[in-house]
Amino acid sequence: MEKLRNSSSHVDLVVNEDNNTKLLRAQAHIWNHIFNFINSMSLKCAVELGIPDIINNHGKPMTISQLTLALPINKNKFQCLYRLMRLLTHSGFFALEKAKIEGEEEEECYVITEASKLLLKDNPMSVTPFLLLVLNPVLTKSFDVLNTWFQNDDSTPFVTTNRMAIWDYCSHEPKLAQSFNEAMASDARLVTSVLIKKCKGVFEEVDSLVDVGGGTGTVAKFIATTFPQIQCSVLDLPHVVAGLQGEKNLNFIDGDMFVEVPTAQVVLLKWILHDWSDENSIKILKKCKEAITRSEKKIGKVVVIDMIIENEKDEIDDESYETQLFMDMALLTLFSGQERNEKELSKLFKDAGFSHYKITPILGLRSLIEIYP
Ligand SMILES: C[S@@+](CC[C@H](N)C(=O)[O-])C[C@H]1O[C@@H](n2cnc3c(N)ncnc32)[C@H](O)[C@@H]1O
Repeated sequence: MEKLRNSSSHVDLVVNEDNNTKLLRAQAHIWNHIFNFINSMSLKCAVELGIPDIINNHGKPMTISQLTLALPINKNKFQCLYRLMRLLTHSGFFALEKAKIEGEEEEECYVITEASKLLLKDNPMSVTPFLLLVLNPVLTKSFDVLNTWFQNDDSTPFVTTNRMAIWDYCSHEPKLAQSFNEAMASDARLVTSVLIKKCKGVFEEVDSLVDVGGGTGTVAKFIATTFPQIQCSVLDLPHVVAGLQGEKNLNFIDGDMFVEVPTAQVVLLKWILHDWSDENSIKILKKCKEAITRSEKKIGKVVVIDMIIENEKDEIDDESYETQLFMDMALLTLFSGQERNEKELSKLFKDAGFSHYKITPILGLRSLIEIYP
């Protein structure tokens, strides 16, 4: 009897221990998600203080004391700066190296990493404008009302917060519009530099191209310079292209892609379809099809640059899959758009009257998709 009681309490202990482990692991998981926004906010703080630039301009590894002295901060807060740097080093934006600064003793010093190189002000492909846009309180406020939005009839949480769609908001608020256009332009520089190297063939033997929703024309300028035989146009909303001057084989057109897309052999849709519902995306695609089939000379193609969300999470790494899901939630919250998988995209193309398409997955989390009438 005695023995049995002992062994059953041992089992209880094991079961309880197991439950406790599960309980504590669950709590830790929730805590990690509660505090997840601190990753974004700490990175934003580092960028606003100019930490990546200061370390880079220093030209060699930098101690925490040197960094404190170089930054425009209250010098009494140097322990707090150390704690900020500890988190950002953990998340891969800085790395620690041992170096001799003064005397014989080696000290722990900060250096920048591949990720923080992409946050430097002078890097033409800097992701900083995108970071400052996405973490602007005008945008983040909308994530605070997701729960309310699920219960009301508004098209997006952004509308719940601001009583107007994001494009209308930008047309009234030049500061947000400028931040939006800078974010798009910096991304366009990065994408175009890869595109021109890896996908030159897409634009060879093309005589005309219109970049629909092409913003301030970063992609079109690049294409116009690289391929002087292509007559390039940028179609965008009046407040975006107002005052922009065309040159040689590049011109700007203010208009509405839901009304008309100018005739061209190639229509480019970079980061457009994901902003819109299926219904609106089909309307846009139909206008693009009209544009490439209107001319009697040559029938062209539409080139889409967008993310193709993976069906099978196992096909990409966990972080990339999570980023795709984050992007999708951002589109839901701000634009009433969505990231789509291949099946969903293929249905859009078919419903808009296209016959076939070709996917080239060369842009990291995004792909280039050529679609044909
Ligand atoms: C996400 S941004 C993409 C900008 C650019 N294609 C890029 O990737 O860098 C979407 C663009 O669509 C433009 N846009 C929104 N509604 C439009 C409309 N009805 N007609 C033309 N352009 C529009 C916006 O002004 C903005 O420049």
